[in-house]
Amino acid sequence: MEEETQIFLAEESLADLINLPVTLEAIDSGLDFEEVVRIGEWLGIALRLTDPMEFWLVLTDRYSGAKVLENIPTKRVVKSSEEEFQEALVEYFATSLSDELFCESCIEAGPPLHVQSRIERLEEFLRPILPPDGTVMEICCGNGMTTQSLRKLGFDPWTEDVEKCEVCQALKAGFLDPKKTMLLDARQLGSFFGPEDFDIVAGFMVGLIDDVNRTLWQEILLEGSKLAKKMVVYTTYTKPEAEWVAETLGKAGWQGEVIDNRDDFGIYDQWAYVAKR
Ligand SMILES: C[S@@+](CC[C@H](N)C(=O)[O-])C[C@H]1O[C@@H](n2cnc3c(N)ncnc32)[C@H](O)[C@@H]1O
Repeated sequence: MEEETQIFLAEESLADLINLPVTLEAIDSGLDFEEVVRIGEWLGIALRLTDPMEFWLVLTDRYSGAKVLENIPTKRVVKSSEEEFQEALVEYFATSLSDELFCESCIEAGPPLHVQSRIERLEEFLRPILPPDGTVMEICCGNGMTTQSLRKLGFDPWTEDVEKCEVCQALKAGFLDPKKTMLLDARQLGSFFGPEDFDIVAGFMVGLIDDVNRTLWQEILLEGSKLAKKMVVYTTYTKPEAEWVAETLGKAGWQGEVIDNRDDFGIYDQWAYVAKR
């Protein structure tokens, strides 16, 4: 494929790769394409379209329960591994987000505020807890502040959050890696990763958890923790939150402890829950 070849994904977000709104509509209305190639072992297909200009449109049902592309006949196959394909999709959406392709205008100015003392304190807290090597998924990463603590410890984490502007600003500032950053509801991570795909799942300042959003956080923590093979670590603002996390994950079979990590400032990462499988 030529360097300047234009390639677009049919869908506009990772979440849409689960529900396939554009793909289903395109199949229903019939697509007028010149050529179709299959990507890997049914990871997706690419259609060559020439109107209004020449470009390739990539469709994938790999992450959806609906398998809608299997019946489209393909003559040519391009090689791609599952990992290469997924990383390319993740980078495409992250880059499109930080290039503001999905926004009419940007109201955020400048890089997000990171509190260095918090980053260093979290690093010191995690140092004796986390195994030195291993793959990490940081759920609910926000503006990437806590990702810096993981990086300082030598990890190269995957990160995810549902808040578009937080993720975008962090990507623009270089705080998050576009190849490993997903704008997605944590409850949908299971569509993209298998159980125990990461050694460690971490989430910092999860919450605030209250009576109104308890079910939401229960789902986030249970779904997120499924991706962990060895351990999970979550920090919270208050002791009741950490105890509730312990109770929630304890019921799902996790064995762990609540740790008092209070300091004089009383803001960030005051309590933690650390558990092993
Ligand atoms: C208190 S902030 C903590 C951010 C970051 N971990 C930190 O400690 O600086 C909680 C984060 O959870 C994210 N969040 C809330 N619901 C979520 C969901 N369903 N999926 C993914 N992230 C979510 C919010 O967007 C927010 O960034």
